[in-house]
Amino acid sequence: MKKAVIFDLDGVLVHTDRLHYTAWKELTGRLGIPFGQTVYRRLRGISRMDSLDIVLEAVPRDFSPEEKAALAAEKNEAYLALAAGLGPRDVAEDVRRALRGLRERGLLLAVGSSSRNAKYILERTGLAPCFDAVADGTMVTRAKPDPEVFLKAAALLGVSPGQALVVEDAAAGIKAARDGGFTAVAFGGDAVESLLAEHRVGTLTELLDLV
Ligand code: BG6
Ligand code: MG
Repeated sequence: MKKAVIFDLDGVLVHTDRLHYTAWKELTGRLGIPFGQTVYRRLRGISRMDSLDIVLEAVPRDFSPEEKAALAAEKNEAYLALAAGLGPRDVAEDVRRALRGLRERGLLLAVGSSSRNAKYILERTGLAPCFDAVADGTMVTRAKPDPEVFLKAAALLGVSPGQALVVEDAAAGIKAARDGGFTAVAFGGDAVESLLAEHRVGTLTELLDLV
C-alpha cells in the first residue's frame, strides 16, 4: 500500500518537454550546432547545465564557465518566453482526473523536478495547489539520474522511498527513482524503454490501479 506519489513535471504533468526542445533548437540554430530528437533524448530529465554540456559536445573547442553561463541563460530566456504562453488549459484532463482520484484515495502528492523553473510552471498552469510538496532543481546539488530530488520530495512529505511511487518520462528519472529506493512508473518519453521501470502506464489515471 503506497502513501505518496511523486511526479516528474516536464513531460509528465505538463508538455513543457516540447518547449525545452524548441528553446534548445533556437540556441543551437543560432550557434550552428546540429540538434534533433536524437540529441534531445539525452537531455530528457537532466539539469540545464548538464544538458548544455551534451549540446556543446558537437563543438570542437572548450567553453569557459562564463560562456556556458551566458549560453544557459540564453536558452532559459527562450524557454521562459515560450512558457509565458502556458495556462490551465495546458493541463490534460487525464492529469486532473489522476490527481483528483489519488487525492480522494488519501495519497500525498509531490513534484520532483530537475527544473529550476518548476514552481513558475506549476503557478502558471494552476497546478500548484494540487501538491503537498515540491522539490526542484533549486533545492538539490546533484541532478537526476541522482535520486536527491526524489529523496528531498519524500522527506518533505514525511514518507520513506518504499512508500512512494515516482512517475517519470525520462530514463534518467527512472534510474534516479530506482537508486533512491522508490517504485518507478514510466509514462511516455524514453522512460518506457527503461528496463528499470517497474510499471508502464499510457495514461496517468492508470496510477489509480497501482496505489
Ligand atoms: C527537466 C527537463 O525537468 O528540467 C529538462 O526534462 C530540463 O529538459 C531540466 O533541461 C532543467 O530545466 P530548467 O527549467 O531548469 O532549465
Ligand atoms: Mg520529464
